[in-house]
Amino acid sequence: MDLKDYWTKKLASYSTQEWIKHPNIFAKEVVEYFPKQGKLLELASGVGQDSRYFSSLGYDVIATDLIPPSQLVDLNQPLPFPDESFDIVYSHLGLHYFPIKRTVQLFSEIYKTLRPNGLFCTLFNSLTDPEVSLSTRIEDDFYLTPVGINKRFFSVDSLELLLPKEFKILLLDNNGKTIKDGDNKLIRLICQK
Ligand SMILES: C[S@@+](CC[C@H](N)C(=O)[O-])C[C@H]1O[C@@H](n2cnc3c(N)ncnc32)[C@H](O)[C@@H]1O
Repeated sequence: MDLKDYWTKKLASYSTQEWIKHPNIFAKEVVEYFPKQGKLLELASGVGQDSRYFSSLGYDVIATDLIPPSQLVDLNQPLPFPDESFDIVYSHLGLHYFPIKRTVQLFSEIYKTLRPNGLFCTLFNSLTDPEVSLSTRIEDDFYLTPVGINKRFFSVDSLELLLPKEFKILLLDNNGKTIKDGDNKLIRLICQK
């Protein structure tokens, strides 16, 4: 499976949808927690609808993804940003694709990239997602899905174990929603440095 090819085609299909013109539900929920202004890094931003929304609200936004049109950042590599350079790190269904070691490293790099009191806001597919039972297990919570990509599914309990202990959790539940997937009890996480 050529991952760049897979995601290029997937993002092209997203671009044809009506929902792509609007910010995600989670994006509108998290702005309630944001400082009035600041620098925001979006990881795995896809077509960039949430970054455009945050930018329209006055935040100084860098949108990143493996695939254009965003700035190219492969999350399998260390984050290419200085320590304490963002007030907010945001990702909408974008941090699923890594084995346990890289997932833990990535959360730690996100922590370092945040300024003091900075926020990490992210939405995940849950281990209760029907896709899990259709997939082949690679390691705990990490599966080869029917479409041929490796994907980690999360739970409230797994996140409490994987996040740097220094993070203060402001919101962690399974009440997340997204327009395109229906009601799959997505995991919402908002935590603060
Ligand atoms: C389910 S889509 C979510 C996109 C967007 N956040 C949204 O909600 O519409 C997952 C995104 O992760 C990106 N992605 C996959 N692997 C990645 C990697 N190694 N580094 C950076 N982005 C990656 C894909 O290109 C895709 O845009």
